[in-house]
Amino acid sequence: MITIHKLNKTFTNNGDEKTIFSDFDFVIEKGQKVGLFGPNGSGKTTLLNILSAVDEKYSGKVEVKRKRISYVHQDYNFTLLPWFTCEKNILLAREYHGLDKSGGLKILKQLIKELKINFSLKQYPFTLSGGQKQIVTLMRALALEPEILLLDEPFASLDVDRRSDVLEVLKKHFTKNMTVVICSHRGDEINSILDRAVVLQPQPVKITKDILAKDMTRKDFENTVLKIRFQKNDEI
Ligand SMILES: Nc1ncnc2c1ncn2[C@@H]1O[C@H](COP(=O)(O)OP(=O)(O)OP(=O)(O)O)[C@@H](O)[C@H]1O
Ligand SMILES: [Mg+2]
Repeated sequence: MITIHKLNKTFTNNGDEKTIFSDFDFVIEKGQKVGLFGPNGSGKTTLLNILSAVDEKYSGKVEVKRKRISYVHQDYNFTLLPWFTCEKNILLAREYHGLDKSGGLKILKQLIKELKINFSLKQYPFTLSGGQKQIVTLMRALALEPEILLLDEPFASLDVDRRSDVLEVLKKHFTKNMTVVICSHRGDEINSILDRAVVLQPQPVKITKDILAKDMTRKDFENTVLKIRFQKNDEI
């Protein structure tokens, strides 16, 4: 379970103070698969940075009960360690958490098959294309078998066919107790894997829609989320 109570977060640039969150409250139940939608600059990445403790400069209560958390950053390019091969990058977090190596190799093999990886993971990250790097960061996130999975626009660099493949693989690796938060601009891309959709508007961040799958039929939920779309500054 993730509990945020009275979160306050500001950024200061050249003496100019910007309030991103002001007394913001938000609760995510254990095992929920939440889509976070909002226009550019609405605070989605800031929120994931706070949940993952990448950013600890805030006031208020943020309680994230977890042992293992995987975070696929929006700027995923900078998160692969350049001095390790892709394979080592994927398995490193498991090592850090003391998880068994054989389990890691098994998941790795499974992911290679499921994601139809057609490049060598013995390569170093700089030799990969942007989309390949994004896939490797997703593999790394799943290989950890996380309790909390944070994904910030995880398909941004993937072509349309790849997106649907990756979506299916993600879904397959979701477990009942895994809490998942995915940031996106478009509901139609991820509606099939969510059970909650939250729309954020800046500034400061307000939740303008909070749609729960359990309150309606699956079809109605997916159709409602499908319509959420932020492109440039438009919401339809
Ligand atoms: N390190 C920083 N320093 C100053 N301002 C920042 C910093 N990081 C983010 N901001 C500001 O905080 C606001 C929220 O940014 P954030 O990256 O969380 O938005 P977002 O919803 O993820 O947007 P996008 O859809 O473009 O990824 C923006 O106005 C941004 O300019
Ligand atoms: Mg962002």
